[in-house]
Amino acid sequence: MVAKPATADRGYDSLPIPFGWFAVAMSNEIAEGEIRTLRYFGTEFVMWRGEDGVVNAVDPYCPHLGAHLGVGSTVEGNDLRCAFHHWQFNGNGGVTAIPYTKMVPPKLKRSCLPSWPVEEHDGVIYAWYHPRKAAPKWEIARMPEPPENEHWILAETHEWVVNIHCQEITENGQDHAHFGAVHGVQGPPAGNFELDGWVRHNRVVAEMPTPRGPMTGIIDVKATGPGQSIGEYIDVTHVVQMQQVSPIDAEHTHIRWQLYHRSGLSEGRLRVTAARMRDLVKQVHQDIPIWNAKIFQPNPLLVEGDGPMMAYRKQYARFYQFDEPAPSEIAA
Ligand code: FES
Ligand SMILES: [Fe+2]
Repeated sequence: MVAKPATADRGYDSLPIPFGWFAVAMSNEIAEGEIRTLRYFGTEFVMWRGEDGVVNAVDPYCPHLGAHLGVGSTVEGNDLRCAFHHWQFNGNGGVTAIPYTKMVPPKLKRSCLPSWPVEEHDGVIYAWYHPRKAAPKWEIARMPEPPENEHWILAETHEWVVNIHCQEITENGQDHAHFGAVHGVQGPPAGNFELDGWVRHNRVVAEMPTPRGPMTGIIDVKATGPGQSIGEYIDVTHVVQMQQVSPIDAEHTHIRWQLYHRSGLSEGRLRVTAARMRDLVKQVHQDIPIWNAKIFQPNPLLVEGDGPMMAYRKQYARFYQFDEPAPSEIAA
């Protein structure tokens, strides 16, 4: 076995954990009344789902006397009750009850436990991470509208934990030369790469060979922030790939996929769809051994044909500017 270099040797000292919305669980992983301690962003937080169905997240240690809120706590109504002295907290980190005191100080009622913005969309629970607790700067992207009179069918879900910084995973889509070398497919041609604020958009329209002759295929990938991208693969079939990449810490990343297809597909098209999904999954398995062992090259030796890697990195650097206002607030 090859010894893995220490974090600093992999070049990650120049890559902190970016801010953004990140998937931290699937909706079906936390039922009403359930509490989870989650480890992402090099830290921990405690998440629970109240009776109202709403998911909340707070820092892990009770501000009273320091109990870990993931150990022995219970959900009371919509609130989290600490095991140690039964203080109760709402999703904003405000105290709603202390069983042995007559008057809860108003300051504690407002908030005394740092809470995390949490949203749930399309079966995924997202938490907003910012090391200085700045408020969310953009909205989570949603599933595209299905074609008329149809709906999306969730066909497959996948997840992987990879030993690599999350920036390197999404850089892969801009790395044109690796498509041929690693995946044996032609990479996206240049000139369809757009950056717009917090969003990155790749759109490829290409002639694809099919048994019935060439047809126009579209690959459209829109990444919103560092943690989320939506890929659409449209030709004889139409696959939607919802991807979330979430930093567990600076060198471990949790990747989640939900793969959807259109309703009402014939058996033949279902087969093509399943093959397309298999192919996407195969590509990740081809990338993983390289990801697990590589270092980050801050000054790569790039040549023509490598793809818009540096434009990608320039945009990504914004996710590390922890004091910077949103791009819309910056004069061009
Ligand atoms: S430590 Fe949590 S209620 Fe006392
Ligand atoms: Fe790849």
